[in-house]
Amino acid sequence: LVNGELKEWKGKNTTVISTISSTKEYAHTVLGSIPDMGETEAMEALDAAVNAYNQGQGVWPTMKVKDRIECMEAFVKKMEAKREEVVKLLMWEIGKSMPDSYKEFDRTVEYIYDTIEDYKQLDRNSAKFQKHDGVYAHIRRGPLGVVLCLGPYNYPLNETFALLIPAIIMGNTTVFKPAKHGVLLITPLMEAFQSSFPKGVVNILFGRGRAVAAPIMKTGKVDVLALIGNSKSANALQDQHPKSNRLRLVLGLEAKNPAIILPDADLDLTVNECLAGTLSFNGQRCTALKVVYVHEDIKEEFLKRFSEKVDALKFGNPWDEGVKLTPLPEPGKPAYIKELLDDAKVKGAKVQNKKGGKPSDNFIWPAVLYPVSKDMRVYEEEQFGPIIPVVSFKDIEEPLNDMAESNYGQQVSLFGKDVYTLSPLIDTLANLVCRVNLNSSCQRGPDVYPFTGRKDSAQSTLSVHDALRSFSVRTFVAFKDN
Ligand code: G3H
Repeated sequence: LVNGELKEWKGKNTTVISTISSTKEYAHTVLGSIPDMGETEAMEALDAAVNAYNQGQGVWPTMKVKDRIECMEAFVKKMEAKREEVVKLLMWEIGKSMPDSYKEFDRTVEYIYDTIEDYKQLDRNSAKFQKHDGVYAHIRRGPLGVVLCLGPYNYPLNETFALLIPAIIMGNTTVFKPAKHGVLLITPLMEAFQSSFPKGVVNILFGRGRAVAAPIMKTGKVDVLALIGNSKSANALQDQHPKSNRLRLVLGLEAKNPAIILPDADLDLTVNECLAGTLSFNGQRCTALKVVYVHEDIKEEFLKRFSEKVDALKFGNPWDEGVKLTPLPEPGKPAYIKELLDDAKVKGAKVQNKKGGKPSDNFIWPAVLYPVSKDMRVYEEEQFGPIIPVVSFKDIEEPLNDMAESNYGQQVSLFGKDVYTLSPLIDTLANLVCRVNLNSSCQRGPDVYPFTGRKDSAQSTLSVHDALRSFSVRTFVAFKDN
């Protein structure tokens, strides 16, 4: 979708999109293919966005707020009509279970409606005049320019649209490239984008990041890099920009969220929350629990109960009833997970659950690993998959020190009962991460809450409310009382 036109792909190269399958073996099968675009298409899309913005003088950035809202409302209505088609592709393409696929779609729609409401409120507030020291001010929020938007495969709708939608509604123009997996599901929505917004406001490209995003950044014409993914890609793209000091970054990055289980924790609740926290969508969430610190006194009991629950989970196709574990969309993932397991085993860890680490073509059974130490790759690497590293501790300072040394600082889950122990601990943890989940697993939602992180985990905040601010700048008219 470039400059309001859905173009036919004439290039020869395509990237084959393989997917999970409905066969017994859960082998990858071909679902479709997407154009493997390059610099030429990237420049066309960028030029369309630059021209539509036209240094803030274009139709979209100068359009009345009420009219921009109408365009967004038209878009979301058309999107809602595509629910079944998109959900089906979510299941097929990235292997997300049926309930989670519906949840992702509905949550995204709700995010858009909430954004519209928040934008109306923002506009109402900006209509008011302020007066300080004899100076009246009418403060508004204006767009920033051209936004390059890159989304992740694990939430191809929700995470991606949490960038794209606020960027668009604030009056910016955009070039959007979906991730390598979870890309076909964008195609049913292209007509909705095309018919709802003026030409050049939303331009959609397919291909590899290196082939399309890097040349776009090199031009220096991008004002905002909006990306949910890993810090390595974000840094590499940022480095391409010739005037990176002019570039605004809106980034949601990797994390290694820990669970800390205190000796008085309610074990039934803790086991269930840790199960959801570590293995929802096979651990392919930046908010997933990626290390579990359990107090020595309850270590044995926790490992036993947790391992049994992991082995009792149901594996199958995303549309199967009651399924919790599904095939992994990245073809290289099971082999990578196995590498991490082998490395940990050589260094002294043991797989605690009977089925742990059993591989098949595109799945590997979740492995509960104990004891995990800092020299193991699984301790350092985000892994984004079904390994649950467990570390025991005697003194609470041990997990706290590890968190302080970590490169990440998104969230933590804290399990325990005694208020006098929990209360000061929460204060300490809140200075290490941005969200402390008390007796519950880590998660992004509800999307009206701030979603952010410290250190390498984020740059900017992505709640409905904050995202509108991340994609805009305050401008004002002032006059004196004379
Ligand atoms: O990958 C990171 C997502 O923001 C996780 O969102 O906690 O709702 O699964 P979630």
